[in-house]
Amino acid sequence: MSLMSDVPHFGNDFLWGVSTASYQIEGAVDADGRGRSIWDEFSHTPGRTLGGDTGDAACEHYRRYGDDVALMADLGVDAYRFSIAWPRIQPDGVDVETRGLDFYDRLVDTLLDHGIEPSATLFHWDSPLALEAAGGWQNRAITDAFAEYAHVVGERLADRVTRWFTLNETVVFTLLGHGIGVHAPGKELGFDAMQVAWHQLLAHGKAVQALRAAGATLVGPANNHTQVRPVDDSPETLDAAALFDLVYNRAFLDPILTGTWPLLGIVDPVAEDGDLAIISEPIDFLGINSYNPQYIAAAPPGSAVPFDMVTPEGLEYNDFGWPIIPDGFRQMLVEMQERYGDALPPILITENGGAFNEEPDAAGRVRDQRRIDYTAAHLTALREAMDAGVDVRGYFHWSFMDNFEWAEGYSQRFGLTYVDYATQERIPKDSFHWYRQMIAAQKGRR
Ligand code: NOJ
Repeated sequence: MSLMSDVPHFGNDFLWGVSTASYQIEGAVDADGRGRSIWDEFSHTPGRTLGGDTGDAACEHYRRYGDDVALMADLGVDAYRFSIAWPRIQPDGVDVETRGLDFYDRLVDTLLDHGIEPSATLFHWDSPLALEAAGGWQNRAITDAFAEYAHVVGERLADRVTRWFTLNETVVFTLLGHGIGVHAPGKELGFDAMQVAWHQLLAHGKAVQALRAAGATLVGPANNHTQVRPVDDSPETLDAAALFDLVYNRAFLDPILTGTWPLLGIVDPVAEDGDLAIISEPIDFLGINSYNPQYIAAAPPGSAVPFDMVTPEGLEYNDFGWPIIPDGFRQMLVEMQERYGDALPPILITENGGAFNEEPDAAGRVRDQRRIDYTAAHLTALREAMDAGVDVRGYFHWSFMDNFEWAEGYSQRFGLTYVDYATQERIPKDSFHWYRQMIAAQKGRR
């Protein structure tokens, strides 16, 4: 098979990685004193996830991490982005469970033994259920609880974790989890969910401070960002697209990069003096998760939401139904550079990939050429953005292996590695071999 890399060169210092998240891969939900998270509760509520799937077993990474890290070393990545499960560290949201810390300590040391830079996300959506009972992210008190959690984790791991991501995709956690309720904790607050956004932003700023105090040197958020494409140029459509851009992109980035709240007079969360100074605490890099552009139409008459997220027909799609538009990736980055200018720190692509659900063939080989094509095209677009002046320092593919895709359960496969959930066998897909060769080719050109 030909798996030659047709990806341009990214330079000697470019960082190549893969990403995962705790609830999506770890399983072992009762191990070592772990508390319940909002995702345990949500996934065990009938009707919330496809087929009633839960993360109870997931990829059993909690027990198999040694083999998984060895496979990552075989892949040849420089860095691994994983997340820490808050309910393993503070099962009731307060008291510290050292066995939870011990797990991540072992994981970090195993990564270092294999020459892989540990890159830890503090929060990838699995808050302790005990804190939800007290209002969760609607209650400002959670920002101090999060700062304490960041302090505890930082004190234990900052001497060995290379870079830290505070919160993952605050926009998705806010809007899907609290706006429309299709993710945990399943709240349907509409735009009132933006109070959650505020608390997440504040928690981010407080975590930056706590991590730095614990000795962390490289800290930033991992934001989802999408290029906004109006479906036509009517004034209604352009207004709807501008509003979507504000609510989806800018509300989560302007506060961090420029210390301003772009929805002033549209949605005004309850805030305290000084919040924006904490939220805009300087960061070392901006993590960006991005998969596809978002097409926006004007809202249908009588709609509660002032814009309509649409997917035009006639495009190419992945198995999740997301359009495949590599040039949107380039444009997203170039537009971000134009918007924020000198306020934009170096960028790390912390997630990019697609659901391509190829199964093993009779010989046990997973021929996921579509993932190879998607990734090669997005890397080429990324290189073009860099050539246009955007400072991007690394790329983490989502995901290292197939895993629990939230409300979609196990039905959508994003991995470079196939996971047979019945046996927990890992099968490197064609894309895994391609990614390995591509990284090796990049390094060979140094
Ligand atoms: C973003 C999320 O961070 C991750 O958890 C999810 O699996 C991927 N995108 C794919 O939807």
